[in-house]
Amino acid sequence: MFIGLDLGTSGVRVVLVRPDGNVLDSAEAGLLAVHPAPGWSEQDPADWVKAARRAIRALAQRHPLAMERVEGLGLSGQMHGAVLLDAGGAVLRPAILWNDSRCHAEAAELDAMPEVRALSGNIVFPGFTAPKLVWMARHEPQVFARIARVLLPKDYLTWWMTGEFGTEMSDAAGTAWLDVGARDWSDRLLQAGGMRRDQMPVLREGTGIVGPMRPDLAAELGLPADVQVVAGGADNAAAACGVGALAEGDGFVSLGTSGVLLAARSGFYPDPASAVHTFCHAVPGRWYQMGVILAATDSLNWLARITGADAATLTAELGALSAPGPVRFLPYLSGERTPHNDAAVRGAFLGLDIAHDRRDLTRAVVEGVSFALRDSLDALRATGADLPCLLAIGGGTRSRYWVELLATVLGLPLDLPAQGEFGAALGAARLAICGVTGADPLQVMTRPAIAETIDPHADLVDAYSQAHADFAATYPKLKAMP
Ligand code: XUL
Repeated sequence: MFIGLDLGTSGVRVVLVRPDGNVLDSAEAGLLAVHPAPGWSEQDPADWVKAARRAIRALAQRHPLAMERVEGLGLSGQMHGAVLLDAGGAVLRPAILWNDSRCHAEAAELDAMPEVRALSGNIVFPGFTAPKLVWMARHEPQVFARIARVLLPKDYLTWWMTGEFGTEMSDAAGTAWLDVGARDWSDRLLQAGGMRRDQMPVLREGTGIVGPMRPDLAAELGLPADVQVVAGGADNAAAACGVGALAEGDGFVSLGTSGVLLAARSGFYPDPASAVHTFCHAVPGRWYQMGVILAATDSLNWLARITGADAATLTAELGALSAPGPVRFLPYLSGERTPHNDAAVRGAFLGLDIAHDRRDLTRAVVEGVSFALRDSLDALRATGADLPCLLAIGGGTRSRYWVELLATVLGLPLDLPAQGEFGAALGAARLAICGVTGADPLQVMTRPAIAETIDPHADLVDAYSQAHADFAATYPKLKAMP
């Protein structure tokens, strides 16, 4: 048996997987992010440990015998977060997360150094790890001076499980300290960000074995003493492993807290100017590209919070898909990455009328998020990625309306996997299978069974194309506002 653990922003998900790759069961434990100031987003790594413990124990209670046969555990997690440890391994401050934009000035400074884009293959977005550390050096110098190690979120759990400071290529690619083409830390990039190689965790491929779990922890979690911890992957790379997106033409769109449109690529084709991300895949010798928007279901959850309804109630009110609604929503609640690279921009509703109600706002929100993902599709296509269809994954795909809308806005058929909700956690388990058994990733990371293919509504494609053009024309006006 194998375990995949995904440390998301809103919770930890653990899947228990049979050696043939089929999921036996899964468990979850929720997490909250705190926003101590506008643009800030933090979590306490101790809460990740508590949530991971809770979720694994829930599986152990339900399947004690299967858990005793677990050979390997792979990890996946939210990208870019900075976990800072002192020389004794103590956490120095709450982790600064991927959707925190406090270091936008430091990101712009790093990004302006010509060698940085050339080596990292990416824009230095404020969400990335390197500018967070430059911000720390300036704003919290006493804490910065005590940093002995920097870990990415899932790698903190790896350290908790094994006592080893390790990471792997797909998460390291999102730091702006990695030479993404060469798959190695770059001394030049580390120096640009004021960091040293000895502060970095050991690099492996995602299928690499970090080591056995601490025996006391394995016993407490109901796992065998020799269970191996496998490096795993960044959540998007692991999700790609979970849905078999390894080769050119394979891709997915994810409606999670963030929104992602990902294309597997046959090689390393960086194109920072288009604001797409070009990262190492979690399997050796492969890369992928993606457009990222910062608030996908986060936008809907925000509307749910301020209207006092839950997100499922809001989307259930939408009925059947028809022509674009009268209200426009710009989903830039935390700034935006693709295609604008703008940490300062904020969201907006436009065209509100006294007659509009909650339903009009929900419709505007899911349309706005879908239009922003269309921007990402256009940016990816400009790099040469060819995507004839996409898998649709993530919590937002539970809304039928949203999936039909997204297919129509993207002008692409969307395949809904029968077990779509396992995404990154399943990918992490598959990386563990390959790591422990030596199996070929191409044999293990197959496409999931498809429950249904949702085609664009042909009669509405033109109307939504026009509405997307109107949406896209709004950003420069919003940016020009004081
Ligand atoms: C990707 C990114 C997000 C997080 C969400 O660059 O920042 O997708 O990985 O977990």
